[in-house]
Amino acid sequence: MNKAFLFFFGWIAATVFAEDLDQRQSLVMTELQRDHIRKEMRALLSGTQNILAALSENDMAAVVQHARPLGMNMTHKAEGHLKEILPKEFMKLGMSIHQDFDQMASDAESLKDSKHTLRQLSDSMRKCVACHSSYQIRTTVQQPTSNHLPGHHRDDEHHK
Ligand code: HEC
Repeated sequence: MNKAFLFFFGWIAATVFAEDLDQRQSLVMTELQRDHIRKEMRALLSGTQNILAALSENDMAAVVQHARPLGMNMTHKAEGHLKEILPKEFMKLGMSIHQDFDQMASDAESLKDSKHTLRQLSDSMRKCVACHSSYQIRTTVQQPTSNHLPGHHRDDEHHK
């Protein structure tokens, strides 16, 4: 009982603290939706690493092979249900990075110029940086028992 009580207030303190520190715009979604975004993000990171490794060997065929899956094709999987909850600007940045990877793939195929691809990748990664510095994700509380409590408490915080 006592432990649960301490845990609960510890959790609230941590939540409020985190809110104060992180000023980025919050995207509120379910754990499942967040998991989907995180998986896509990890694919972007490992794909980017693969592209860099291929570039370092001047293997332009491998660059094409690793850039293609990060293109617009990637968005057909499950972005439909995320579209409604994500802000327009976020979607725009996301879509444009997928377009970049398509462009990278087709340029790598036709020009076979690793320096050109490197420049494209570097420019494109500004969008990773821009998005990460603007947004954070918060998930909706899903446990039915604690559903109303944290929100209630946070309301009090805002009204003082
Ligand atoms: C349109 C916005 C957007 C763009 C563009 C974007 N990201 Fe992300 N990324 C996010 C958000 C939001 C999170 C935070 C997810 C969370 O809080 O769970 C994230 C998290 C991540 C993570 C952590 C994943 C995890 O398992 O926790 C990695 C790695 C990542 N991004 C890599 C990249 C790379 C590499 C690029 C560019 C090639 C990129 N992202 C572009 C929005 C974006």
